[in-house]
Amino acid sequence: GTGLDSLIKSKGKKYVGFAADGSSQFNDASISDILRTEAGSITPENSMKWESIEPNQGSYNWGTADILVNFAQSNGKQVRGHTLLWHSQLPQWVKNINNKATLTTVIQNHAAAVAGRYKGKIYAWDVANEVIADGGGMRSSVFSQVFGDWTFLDVAFKAAKAADPNAKLCLNDYNINYTGAKLNTFIQVVKDLKARGAPIDCVGTQTHVGVGDSSIASYKNTLTMLAGTGCEVQITELDIAFPSTASSSALLTQQSNDYKTIVSACMGTSACTGITVWGVSDKNTWITGRHPLLWDENFQKKAAYNGFVAGI
Ligand code: XIL
Repeated sequence: GTGLDSLIKSKGKKYVGFAADGSSQFNDASISDILRTEAGSITPENSMKWESIEPNQGSYNWGTADILVNFAQSNGKQVRGHTLLWHSQLPQWVKNINNKATLTTVIQNHAAAVAGRYKGKIYAWDVANEVIADGGGMRSSVFSQVFGDWTFLDVAFKAAKAADPNAKLCLNDYNINYTGAKLNTFIQVVKDLKARGAPIDCVGTQTHVGVGDSSIASYKNTLTMLAGTGCEVQITELDIAFPSTASSSALLTQQSNDYKTIVSACMGTSACTGITVWGVSDKNTWITGRHPLLWDENFQKKAAYNGFVAGI
């Protein structure tokens, strides 16, 4: 192959991936051709989230997630499962649970159903997402409130392990590309989970940043700190947004340099195994209008693409 995934594999890493979702994306040749050429892994942008997949208790919508897994399988791509436990895009029926025994069973059943359905087809699961508060400490959620401690994570990781023993199980979060309380708490939570015998294999650093962000120059430092957990480190949701919808050649060049710096930090960190970019083209990004990705609105490669290549 000639794409980013082949290139990174030739340098000893496991994959380059992209977020994508939905039949409209996989049926759009502009997107699917890029995925076929450039991707080794695909992350469902929304379809495996709890509110998408189990909006009412025991009633599952598998259709959109199945389309992604089938596309991946028939094209030889790995899948990063995203995500089993998250305070956001969480259905009201889960938020309403107010006792620990019920919530424990609900988490176990959810992991068994979702990770079980795709057993053997998911390289890595974001078992839990964004559980650390921005200032450090526990993020407020039904999980932290009902349990009162971090052990909802033990429940989720053990249930995911039982459902799909060969998947790498990850804890994923954002803004852990900055040093400080949030990163420190994240690292401690991972170490404590391991010490309690919970099956955690990987940590995901989302990496939604802006062009020229202060964290980029020291990105390798935070990867090294995350590697200190003993876990595999994955860059899971990379995008580098412009400050506004306005574009300029200076911003395009800075963005290219930023992609290069981040990719090269992963290349220089042996624990960093793969990089997922959060979408293919600027036409399909969640950061509407701010040009964060490697292909432009017309599916032309941007300078950012060449920066990514240069980083590998
Ligand atoms: C975003 C999706 O890209 C959007 O389409 C959706 O409306 C909201 O969620 N952190 C995560 C991802 O872990 O699941 C989020 O994805 C982006 C932030």
